[in-house]
Amino acid sequence: MALTPSRADKFSFGLWTIGYNGADPFGGPTRAPLDVVEAVHKLNELGAYGLTFHDDDLFAFGSSEAARQKEIDRLKGALAETGVIVPMVTTNLFSAPVFKDGGFTSNDRDVRRFALRKVIKQLDLAAELGAETFVMWGGREGAEYDAAKDIRQALERYREAVNLLGDYVTDKGYGIRFAIEPKPNEPRGDILLPTLGHALAFIQTLERPELVGVNPEVGHEQMAGLNFTAGIAQALYAGKLFHIDLNGQRGIKYDQDLVFGHGDLHNAFSLVDLLENGGPNGGQSYTGPRHFDYKPSRTEDMTGVWDSAAANMRTYLLLKERAAAFRADPEVQEALTASRVPELGTPTLAAGESYDDLIADRSAYEDFDSASYFNARGFGFVRLQQLALEHMLGARG
Ligand code: GCO
Ligand code: MN
Ligand code: MN
Repeated sequence: MALTPSRADKFSFGLWTIGYNGADPFGGPTRAPLDVVEAVHKLNELGAYGLTFHDDDLFAFGSSEAARQKEIDRLKGALAETGVIVPMVTTNLFSAPVFKDGGFTSNDRDVRRFALRKVIKQLDLAAELGAETFVMWGGREGAEYDAAKDIRQALERYREAVNLLGDYVTDKGYGIRFAIEPKPNEPRGDILLPTLGHALAFIQTLERPELVGVNPEVGHEQMAGLNFTAGIAQALYAGKLFHIDLNGQRGIKYDQDLVFGHGDLHNAFSLVDLLENGGPNGGQSYTGPRHFDYKPSRTEDMTGVWDSAAANMRTYLLLKERAAAFRADPEVQEALTASRVPELGTPTLAAGESYDDLIADRSAYEDFDSASYFNARGFGFVRLQQLALEHMLGARG
């Protein structure tokens, strides 16, 4: 299997990722700004197929129309020269002072109206560039203090905003779907729609739920102590995995945005296995962009930036290779069966069986030997995990 990234792998990067200048709350930039034209060319050389961006990544907040258009034209030129595409676009509703209490859910109604206008402008650009997905990460939608935000009203305003934007893309005939990106905290003390589960429940309340899915980020679920692979499986189950942000995170702490695989490697392995092999049932389960939302550490110079960009893709391809070997290993297949993993696909009741039939079935209860599970009948899950680890380490096949 090829470990050299190619277009078919659908790797994409945010302009704000490779363009991250190293600034954090404790220190300023450690690197010079990265020009968009250079970014596109370099990503193309490395084998990525896509670039994504916030409006403010491409043209500074408050730019004149002429300055905005100049950057758009420069981007378009680089895309034309390389064949790189823009699969996803998003809006920055978190950096400018005006958004200090959020965009769609600021207590200040004028700010909410301004935020909607900013998003609509960026939606027009997204459509012009052929983007299919519009990510909504509401990093400033939230609060630090309970009395400061009426959460039910905030959700109503969020809903109002997404409904309006759904009407807009529908009326304009844009082929764009929205993807909500959950995050538990940072920059706000508590962010609205903090996890995948909150986002999935919210989507069901919308007027056009079919237009809205999720863009889960590895580190964000892990910041909440959650299992990312399990969350992705539920998003797939709900038909809502519209986009994905791959990166690394080491436990419950600030958002690290490390290179994919540089955090919980087991979870990264099971994630790639799920996306590429569909878990035990087989078949690729996600065909969209493999989007990296990471931050090259501020310790790195530009060589380190491009090395880390390449590392994301190489790690993904290595895990894809190892996951394929894991699934193809006869001992793994035997261990899966011994662990009864395929048996979970069998409905608990037989076809046509009713609860009356179940109650009448003495083997299900009266004659069932539940005591036989004590000191026997282990599931062998540890053996399965060790086999996965050995494949990850290249110790098998
Ligand atoms: C984060 C977020 C952001 C969003 C991006 C899209 O790390 O907190 O990932 O990077 O994904 O801003 O709006
Ligand atoms: Mn993040
Ligand atoms: Mn993200």
